[in-house]
Amino acid sequence: MTKQKFILGNWKMNNQLAEIEEFTAHLTNLSQVQHPDLYLGIAPMSPYLSLVRQKFPPFLHVGAQNISTQKKGAFTGEIPASTVSELKGEFVLVGHSERRSYFHETSSELAEKIRRAFEERLLTVFCVGETLKEREEKSHFDCVKKQMNEVIELLGDDAQKILSASFIMAYEPVWAIGTGKVASAKDAEEMHAFISSLLKEKWGNEFFLPILYGGSVTAQNINELLAMPNISGALVGGASLKSDSFSLLAQAAFKFF
Ligand code: PGA
Repeated sequence: MTKQKFILGNWKMNNQLAEIEEFTAHLTNLSQVQHPDLYLGIAPMSPYLSLVRQKFPPFLHVGAQNISTQKKGAFTGEIPASTVSELKGEFVLVGHSERRSYFHETSSELAEKIRRAFEERLLTVFCVGETLKEREEKSHFDCVKKQMNEVIELLGDDAQKILSASFIMAYEPVWAIGTGKVASAKDAEEMHAFISSLLKEKWGNEFFLPILYGGSVTAQNINELLAMPNISGALVGGASLKSDSFSLLAQAAFKFF
């Protein structure tokens, strides 16, 4: 059975109109790497969601980097999941380390965001990962387990239903994000296998979630990462900003089909 592969670009607070034009003008290479099991997506800044959706070809999915915990109302500056759907966004990142550290997002907020994404049938990309200190202290497995367990417990009786619906995970060691220090394929695989075993422990051997690796992924290191049995794709910041480097990542994933 072919397993799905994902290449998701997280543009963060980058790529405004001129760069979006540039990116879309050079997308031609991408049409050659289409496969039903290859999910290619980009999360631009939310105000550009609609524009990017119009400019991108249909096979390139568009998503949001964040959503509100709330459905609607007096929450100045927030964007609800329903707006992401209305603008034809299809996925949302939840729990990215930059949200956790700079905006102090807690597990209970992340669980609410996951509920909102589920209600809108958005694909949730739930991010976990340890800091450098935690890795050096060898508490990286405990850290990731805690990040997962807290959210699963908060989702309560709905957890299995929500995680089985439209949900994937991303392992992004904080020390590897934007630093050029990629985790070795062996270290990443070890964590992915651990995450996968935690899920199987909870819900049985058949339970499977794609787990993407994120943190300084480039065309130079992606082949090795994707070759690992528990790595289903990549969540990419820097190397997703330009269409040529994003296309190289998509091509690398396409080779697996
Ligand atoms: P990076 O970012 O690829 O630039 O390290 C990854 C991420 O933050 O998702």
